[in-house]
Amino acid sequence: MSDSPASDCTVLAISLQKGGVGKTTTAINLGAALAELGFRTLIIDLDPQGNASSGLGINAPDDAPTIAEVLLREETLDSIIEPTAEKNLFVAPAPKRQELAGVEAQLVAEMFPQPRLKEAIDACRDDWDYVLLDCPPTLGRLTVNAFMAADAILAPVQCQYFALEGLRDLSEVVKQVRQALNPNLEIAHYLLTMSEGTKKLSQEVEGELRNAFGDRVFKTVIPYNVKLAEAPSMERSVLKHASTSKGAKAYRTVAKELSNGRTPKVR
Ligand SMILES: Nc1ncnc2c1ncn2[C@@H]1O[C@H](COP(=O)(O)OP(=O)(O)OP(=O)(O)O)[C@@H](O)[C@H]1O
Ligand SMILES: [Mg+2]
Repeated sequence: MSDSPASDCTVLAISLQKGGVGKTTTAINLGAALAELGFRTLIIDLDPQGNASSGLGINAPDDAPTIAEVLLREETLDSIIEPTAEKNLFVAPAPKRQELAGVEAQLVAEMFPQPRLKEAIDACRDDWDYVLLDCPPTLGRLTVNAFMAADAILAPVQCQYFALEGLRDLSEVVKQVRQALNPNLEIAHYLLTMSEGTKKLSQEVEGELRNAFGDRVFKTVIPYNVKLAEAPSMERSVLKHASTSKGAKAYRTVAKELSNGRTPKVR
């Protein structure tokens, strides 16, 4: 897909320029479900809020290097990766405070965005089956770095009013990134989140999305499930927090759809 060295690693940017649609919840729980299937999975926390890191119990000391130093080319990606309590699941943490926002400001000073994250991932691509990039809800240089590094985008779409609005903006940006920075980038996957299946609104959003994007929309729909909202405060994925909950089952099924018969690399 990209011109990265040949490897069986898939890099997915989980992105939508709309707040609170389930990006981080998807990064954590899809990541955990892929890990449970045996895939070595790395979640890279690119959001200054740091929710993916804290939601998996990664609370590195203030002076520990993070993705901020990787983007500044002061550390390798390898050197900042932390294991989680879940087998096969690893996190490249964001800094605790708002330092990532500061790094983003530095990156904006570059006339042309440089593929800093892509270089960092390429250096250790062979170690991973999946790399999930938890993007911020903004379209700054952090997201642009993610789009340069990604093989494809996974867009979570909340079953809500105006759900499809954010998608128009995303498609526009993807067009521009394709022209200038990453010719292979595409929105390969759409995931319906927070569905209240029996409600008319959820059904309408689902219908519209499937009409517009066909089989790029995962068959599995993520239900509204309170266990998904609780899990981050327990510092673990919903698969560990409430293994038989509807939320856990749904993310397991999405992981199977995504991996679609693929098997973990033999190491
Ligand atoms: N399927 C779900 N059922 C119930 N609650 C959910 C579900 N998905 C996400 N949530 C909750 O909704 C809130 C927003 O989700 P999340 O943080 O994943 O969104 P986000 O897109 O990453 O937000 P941001 O744009 O701020 O990064 C969180 O409190 C999360 O726990
Ligand atoms: Mg988030």
